[in-house]
Amino acid sequence: MTAMLKVATPPEWVTTALKDFDAFLLDHAACERKASAVGMSFVVRYPDRPLILEPMIQFAREELEHYHQVMRLCLKRGLVPERDEHDEYVNLLMKEVRFGREERFLDRLLASALIEARGAERLALVTDRLTDPELRNFYSRLARAEEHHREFFIEMARLFFPQAIVDHRLAELAEVEARAIQSVPHRSALH
Ligand SMILES: [Fe+2]
Ligand SMILES: [Fe+2]
Repeated sequence: MTAMLKVATPPEWVTTALKDFDAFLLDHAACERKASAVGMSFVVRYPDRPLILEPMIQFAREELEHYHQVMRLCLKRGLVPERDEHDEYVNLLMKEVRFGREERFLDRLLASALIEARGAERLALVTDRLTDPELRNFYSRLARAEEHHREFFIEMARLFFPQAIVDHRLAELAEVEARAIQSVPHRSALH
């Protein structure tokens, strides 16, 4: 299991996720697009923190590139994007983000780290099940990228907060993440 997560995704998840691979791909593309938007939302919301500018723009570009790559796969299969589905898992986690400028900043970074960690874990599970070598290679590359993103958000938090505060809040939010991921039904989607 990816470090930082409190519960592992059960093996039967991947069977449901890949039952309708087209639906999975479309949802996955939307997740990459939303990740890019999260990076840009940090840029927009925290103009007073120039330290995050360069790395957040880089992050947003990487996620946009992932989106582009997954969307190309969708288009090759004749799939077209649909209206975003409500992501109950993300909503449950974001509900725990505190108010207060500093708290909110920290919680947003750590929730993003956990979402990246879960994405990395699940994309690795998907990679193991894929048989097409090209697709397998692609998913394995994406899974590794999401692992870097998990670390990236922790590094961003460490720029502004002491390690003990980061570790303590991360442990709390990891409990919330574990409850959230276990409470949503399995479907052909990343969450
Ligand atoms: Fe990504
Ligand atoms: Fe990512």
